[in-house]
Amino acid sequence: MTYGNVIFVGFMGTGKTTVGSALAKDLGIPHRDLDEAIAEREGCSIPELFATKGEQYFRDAESAMLRELLQEKPQVLTTGGGAVLRPENVRLMLSEGTVIALSAAEEELIRRLAGDTGRPLIAGDMAQRVRRLLDERKGAYDFAPIQIDTTGKDVSDIVAEIRGRM
Ligand code: S3P
Repeated sequence: MTYGNVIFVGFMGTGKTTVGSALAKDLGIPHRDLDEAIAEREGCSIPELFATKGEQYFRDAESAMLRELLQEKPQVLTTGGGAVLRPENVRLMLSEGTVIALSAAEEELIRRLAGDTGRPLIAGDMAQRVRRLLDERKGAYDFAPIQIDTTGKDVSDIVAEIRGRM
């Protein structure tokens, strides 16, 4: 079987990077991560980028990098939780690959994200920010044809579940 772009979307902490990397290994294709590519290009971490240039700048860089990286198929591309906020990004993902949305129960997300320092949007009162953002983003990942709830599951089981649905 040949693969094009396999694109992961979902809220922070749903396991996109971990599962995407494991799936790429399983399929024998490269894994690219959108945030990692942005940080590399900008020469600083994502929190530094938010702090020095602001969210708007990050969102523009994210959209541009998404367009650029989607040219490199076959690959598994993992995206940041906010990459779906622009409708043109959603259209691009749907036209350029197979989109998989990961989700997890709110309390599990809060457990997984506890102690995280790499995500500026949930810095401070993490649990409250996660709850508010989850609410704001309700439905934002529903466009993906493959929906996987990762709550309480092992990475290898999630990969097997995805392979069964691709
Ligand atoms: C963001 C999610 C992060 C990162 C940035 C913004 C968001 O990626 O892109 O901090 O808006 O949800 P992860 O989903 O990989 O944490």
